[in-house]
Amino acid sequence: MSYPDIVLLAEGKPVCVPCSQNNQFKLRAEDLAAAIGPKTKWVILNSPSNPTGAAYSRAELKALTDVLVQHPHVWVLTDDMYEHLVYDDFVFATAAEVEPRLYERTLTMNGVSKAYCMTGWRIGYAAGPVPLIKAIAKVQSQSTTNPSSISQAAAVEALNGPQDFIPVHNAAFRARRDLVVDMLNKAQGLHCQGDRQRRRFRDLPARGRRRGSGAGLGLRPVALLPHLLRDLDRGADRGLQAHPAGLRRARVDAAAESSPSPAPRERVASVARRVRVWPTDSS
Ligand SMILES: Cc1ncc(COP(=O)(O)O)c(C=O)c1O
Repeated sequence: MSYPDIVLLAEGKPVCVPCSQNNQFKLRAEDLAAAIGPKTKWVILNSPSNPTGAAYSRAELKALTDVLVQHPHVWVLTDDMYEHLVYDDFVFATAAEVEPRLYERTLTMNGVSKAYCMTGWRIGYAAGPVPLIKAIAKVQSQSTTNPSSISQAAAVEALNGPQDFIPVHNAAFRARRDLVVDMLNKAQGLHCQGDRQRRRFRDLPARGRRRGSGAGLGLRPVALLPHLLRDLDRGADRGLQAHPAGLRRARVDAAAESSPSPAPRERVASVARRVRVWPTDSS
């Protein structure tokens, strides 16, 4: 979600290509092809994605890499941060392995923040062509002067150490996600789309409107969110945020520990009853 600002900082022009809800919030090959122009420098792909949780199968990635192969002036950055946070039978894939012809112009990024619960250690890493990595190292060593050696050692330990806790964590995340998805879909007028098997996050397309003459909450579209935030228990609602790409959707982060009490669910249902929410459109 920081990428548009990062591009602006680098004096580039960010171009966000719509990923339609009809396509499970995934980028279509034809839309990617249409968005690439002579001035395009980089294409940034993020799968599994934050905020929608959309995750691309190998075949879906191949459709995108087939387009990218046609545009040799374009470099590819893949943010694979959620590589390990997948459910059921989903098999993670990344562009550089799906299409070796992109290898020399792909930067593959990852980090220890998510799968290893090490956000505070501030370690991300990347692999790519040597000249690019050398340039990145130069900029980093002269700007942040690099992450602490303690964090680096901890990250090496995380990556080389036992990985058996990851499926255990994923099972807990999956249970929380199922709870959140059921809660949202049971609330009148809220819709939480999707393939329950594969996603971590769900969007809740929500368009409120005035019920007329001051009845109900009289909410404008985005005003639903603060009401939900205020009405929910802390912990159950920590991840509820407006979707950066549109005011009619919210992201619910199902990673927060679930509340044993049914109160948050009842409150979501009660707020939803008081706010009229229109069905989603096709955007
Ligand atoms: C897709 C994605 N990439 C990268 C990051 C950066 O993580 P961090 O700054 O904690 O290493 C995040 C954080 O939320 C993310 O969602």
